[in-house]
Amino acid sequence: MTEMTPVTEATAATAPAKKAVPDAQTVTEVRHWTDRLFSFRCTRPASLRFRSGEFVMIGLMQTDPKSGKEKPLLRAYTIASPAWDEELEFYSIQVPDGPLTSKLQHIKPGDEIILRPKPVGTLVHDALLPGKRLWFFATGTGFAPFASLLREPQTYEDYDEVIITHTCREAAELHYGAELIEGLKTDELLNEVIGEGFWKKIKYYPTTTREESPKMGRITDLMRSGEAFRDLGVEPINPETDRAMICGNLAFNLELKAMLEEYGLEEGANSDPKQYVVEKAFLD
Ligand SMILES: Cc1cc2nc3c(=O)[nH]c(=O)nc-3n(C[C@H](O)[C@H](O)[C@H](O)COP(=O)(O)OP(=O)(O)OC[C@H]3O[C@@H](n4cnc5c(N)ncnc54)[C@H](O)[C@@H]3O)c2cc1C
Ligand SMILES: NC(=O)c1ccc[n+]([C@@H]2O[C@H](COP(=O)([O-])OP(=O)(O)OC[C@H]3O[C@@H](n4cnc5c(N)ncnc54)[C@H](OP(=O)(O)O)[C@@H]3O)[C@@H](O)[C@H]2O)c1
Repeated sequence: MTEMTPVTEATAATAPAKKAVPDAQTVTEVRHWTDRLFSFRCTRPASLRFRSGEFVMIGLMQTDPKSGKEKPLLRAYTIASPAWDEELEFYSIQVPDGPLTSKLQHIKPGDEIILRPKPVGTLVHDALLPGKRLWFFATGTGFAPFASLLREPQTYEDYDEVIITHTCREAAELHYGAELIEGLKTDELLNEVIGEGFWKKIKYYPTTTREESPKMGRITDLMRSGEAFRDLGVEPINPETDRAMICGNLAFNLELKAMLEEYGLEEGANSDPKQYVVEKAFLD
């Protein structure tokens, strides 16, 4: 028979202590959308205040191969949940050999992540002058800030119409966004707080470039040809009434930025609100 040793203060003190994760938050839910996209929710630090559309640094502890010491591995991540939510949500890529996401893709409820509570970013309402129609332009995981802003009451208080375009390579890469937008129709809390049927202000324009879907093509090309405006049944962009936020890969951001400037819109910032704002969805 195995002898039971009572845990005394002395024995407990000699047990190897689990190293505390700095700025730890607990994962509460994980959903995998494709083999390279997932979203997750985690607890929110009581002291964290942020504006819908901002990003923070998140990550995991990793062992430094040289020193053998544990240290944080952090990356910029947009908070995909709105500022009022009790929890935080993130929408993530899985880069097969990416230092962070090759590990982050395996997280499950109960695991801890690091979250540095210093939110920043330009995709915020404060960086835009008042307008009538708000455009959200996204590619890939660039949808994340708009997942936050589409659930932000101010979006509907400030604008008569909200147009969200999302361009991805494949149809399944649109699912996270499509489900979120569909879910707004039956979201009791938002319909009560913002007003019943607030979601009717949204026009959703998803497109794919490398797989068949109801609408194919890059949003930039579809706007240049006028097809996007015809499909949406709206007038082309006008600097008097239209405001825009852009979040995608660098080439997309630059191309769309140039197009918006041609329409007469000027780039704004937190300290100098104007007609459009832009942020990279990832570096390079
Ligand atoms: C302001 C900002 C906000 C960001 N918000 C998000 C977010 O909400 N969700 C998210 O998944 N990533 C986001 N990123 C990218 C994120 O910081 C990391 O680059 C990503 O998590 C991959 O980390 P990694 O260490 O695995 O690979 P890294 O070494 O960081 O990246 C490896 C390569 O993977 C590609 N890559 C990185 N991120 C993406 C992406 N999101 N989509 C497509 N290709 C990518 C790039 O080619 C990059 O060079 C953001 C980046 C910035 C600058
Ligand atoms: N998505 C995948 O299935 C996949 C699979 C394996 C590896 N990867 C790698 O992951 C990285 C990121 O891929 P991603 O698909 O997430 O992002 P991405 O390459 O930034 O493409 C996302 C969407 O943006 C479009 N786009 C790119 N540049 C544009 C521009 N200037 N104007 C308008 N639209 C533009 C793309 O269209 P186009 O298709 O016309 O470029 C695509 O529909 C890449 O390095 C890629 O090689 C992706």
